Amino acid sequence: MRTLFCVFSGTGNTLKVSAALSENLRALGDETEVIRIKKGSEVCPEKFDRLIISYHIHAFNAPTNVISFIKSLKNAELPTYIVCTSGEPLRLNDAAVLKPRRMLRKKGYDVLGEFSYVMPYNIIFRHSDEMAARMWQAALSRAKRDSDKIFNGERDLKRVNILKRATAYMFKIEHLAMPIVGRRFRVTENCVGCGACVDICPQKNIKLQDKKPTFGKDCIGCMGCVFHCPSDAIKPSIFNGWKVNGEYSFEGAPAKDDEVCSYCHKSYLRYFHESEQK
Ligand SMILES: Cc1cc2nc3c(=O)[nH]c(=O)nc-3n(C[C@H](O)[C@H](O)[C@H](O)COP(=O)(O)O)c2cc1C
Repeated sequence: MRTLFCVFSGTGNTLKVSAALSENLRALGDETEVIRIKKGSEVCPEKFDRLIISYHIHAFNAPTNVISFIKSLKNAELPTYIVCTSGEPLRLNDAAVLKPRRMLRKKGYDVLGEFSYVMPYNIIFRHSDEMAARMWQAALSRAKRDSDKIFNGERDLKRVNILKRATAYMFKIEHLAMPIVGRRFRVTENCVGCGACVDICPQKNIKLQDKKPTFGKDCIGCMGCVFHCPSDAIKPSIFNGWKVNGEYSFEGAPAKDDEVCSYCHKSYLRYFHESEQK
């Protein structure tokens, strides 16, 4: 089987998870191709036997650029899976598959399964590297199970109740606000004009003027520019207090149960224990 991964990843987590799934599918005998969802990216899913759409969860919903990307897809009757990453192990996040699932089905795609991964936050607060390592360990266990399901064409769809749907619907306001907030991103005197933010922006929304970045109206709030700025120079307007900058190390000793962060402590433990079950 030839499997196409279409991945939207602002700060790298979703790409990392998708690469692990792709590697597992290859080991099982698939050919895989991973492409990034960026402004203007075009794909031909009809040349593949299976489609996987991966994205991070933004305000309990799929990011707006992923919705536009799915809109632009040609109709095709392919077995399809959705992969989401989030910072919190909350079941409320399940609603983020609903719109993509509905849109894909309308286009003929046979959405068979939806998988969730918890990865370190790229906004609000920085998880410890120990938490990141535990999350990565959990992701690798889940990726093994999920790639077997994908390979065997198994069904595994999320059930989303009315309460989750309603809450996710209300949070869409954040998506509407992003183009306005994004225009107010600024850089501090630490900016060296290296242009890393220009290259990373999936929306081609950042331009360099006199060696300083300027921010246009197409921001979707992925935080790629803020997270990857090598001199931590970007101030993301009203999100400045929630800024997270710099790569996580996933390689150290994973957090033990009593070192799991106090925020959503029980939910993280539930997620880790579920992931670690054989
Ligand atoms: C603007 C914004 C909103 C987010 N909203 C949520 C959310 O509703 N629920 C959640 O669990 N994580 C949320 N996150 C966290 C990301 O989904 C999470 O860190 C993800 O793994 C990032 O993936 P990426 O590195 O591929 O971009 C949000 C992140 C950003 C930047």
